[in-house]
Amino acid sequence: MRNTSWIALSLAIAALSGAACKKKAADGGGGSGSGTGTAAPTPTPTPTPTPTARPSQGTLATLPPLPASTDPANAAKVALGHALFFEKQLSVDGTKACYSCHLNENGTGGADPLAIGPGGKQLPRHSPALWNIGYADGAFYWDGRADSLEAQAKAAWAGGNMGVGDDKLEAKAAEVAKLKAIAPLWKAAFGDGAATAAQVTEALAAYERTLVCNATPYDKFAAGDKAALTEAQQRGLDVFMTKGMCTACHTPPHFTAAHMTKGGVYWNAGVGYAGKDPAAVDIGRKKVTNKDTDMGAFKVPTLRGVSASAPYFHDGSVAKLEDAVKYMASAATPNPNLSPLFNDKGLTPAELADLTDFVGNGLACPGGFEVPADWKP
Ligand code: HEC
Ligand code: HEC
Repeated sequence: MRNTSWIALSLAIAALSGAACKKKAADGGGGSGSGTGTAAPTPTPTPTPTPTARPSQGTLATLPPLPASTDPANAAKVALGHALFFEKQLSVDGTKACYSCHLNENGTGGADPLAIGPGGKQLPRHSPALWNIGYADGAFYWDGRADSLEAQAKAAWAGGNMGVGDDKLEAKAAEVAKLKAIAPLWKAAFGDGAATAAQVTEALAAYERTLVCNATPYDKFAAGDKAALTEAQQRGLDVFMTKGMCTACHTPPHFTAAHMTKGGVYWNAGVGYAGKDPAAVDIGRKKVTNKDTDMGAFKVPTLRGVSASAPYFHDGSVAKLEDAVKYMASAATPNPNLSPLFNDKGLTPAELADLTDFVGNGLACPGGFEVPADWKP
């Protein structure tokens, strides 16, 4: 959906300073979905409110809850998925669990700029944070190549991340299902039948859907606790929604348009081009769609919890949040497919500091994965 209507919508949202979200909230809508932002006529003849210069002081979009599972065995699947997420025996050589690359101390992403798989093999991309991944719809990985959490888990397990290989997944599932700590959880989730690879990915996906970040200072502030964001963070939120134009892609309440659009939202932000031979640049979304307009485009990541998930971008090329924010507010690295939304926003050092404070501290996620007492890196 990276087309002109999206740009127009995004610009409208930014320009109206959240007026579209305000309208939705007033209607009792949840603020989810890629809504058109079209305001219905108001029944009472109240004067049209002038858009406030400070959207932070208006009504802010609040996060809708994830739809509850209707599966009576869901809790048991979540418990099994939790155990499997931390189970190194799931990998080809017993060295990596899912958690090895998606750690709480790294904001549910990875510490290495480029992830390191079993056998010390360097993978082409950075491990992303997994906060609120259950909200994503048909778009997993930086390039959106997996269309469900289950498909993503299967690919991670069979491919470079865990290295098992497609043809060995069933045998691996049977082996892991027999582990002393796992067997009772498996039985509770799936009964007595033979363990299958599909059960592994179903349980992992059920567990991943529980990683919800919905109690950031922003969320509390949006719900009416006006002390939840500091003055500086409120100013930073204003910059985010107006002059910085961050809202166009990192749209509240998800802080990514990708969680509000089936199939995700992808943009070329010029990341991965600097100092590189054009032939060596990661083509990103183009690998999935084979469209030239998707060259070098990557999924817009959520900014919820971003302060903890350094280093940044699909190639882990930026170590500090303030530098990632500064880059995003700049004209970025020129290349033939750079999104037109990147240009120098002319933010002052004070505005950049407020913006970084909001993005970092204002969107900090409490909690994380529940780490078992016997976890060893
Ligand atoms: C060796 C490190 C490593 C391990 C182990 C690993 N991952 Fe990842 N994970 C990554 C990397 C790197 C990516 C991004 C790859 C890409 O986009 O091409 C990723 C992407 C993801 C995504 C997509 C996130 C998004 O924003 O779309 C999910 C979900 C995920 N991993 C879950 C898992 C699960 C479940 C496991 C265990 C089965 C796992 N990971 C094991 C490194 C790892
Ligand atoms: C045109 C869409 C667009 C706009 C506008 C935009 N971003 Fe981004 N942002 C992206 C994309 C796409 C990425 C991932 C780029 C990559 O890794 O190749 C990203 C990544 C980031 C990251 C790193 C997140 C991570 O987990 O690695 C931060 C921080 C960020 N943006 C903040 C901002 C801020 C602050 C603004 C406003 C000044 C902004 N962005 C404006 C699309 C956008």
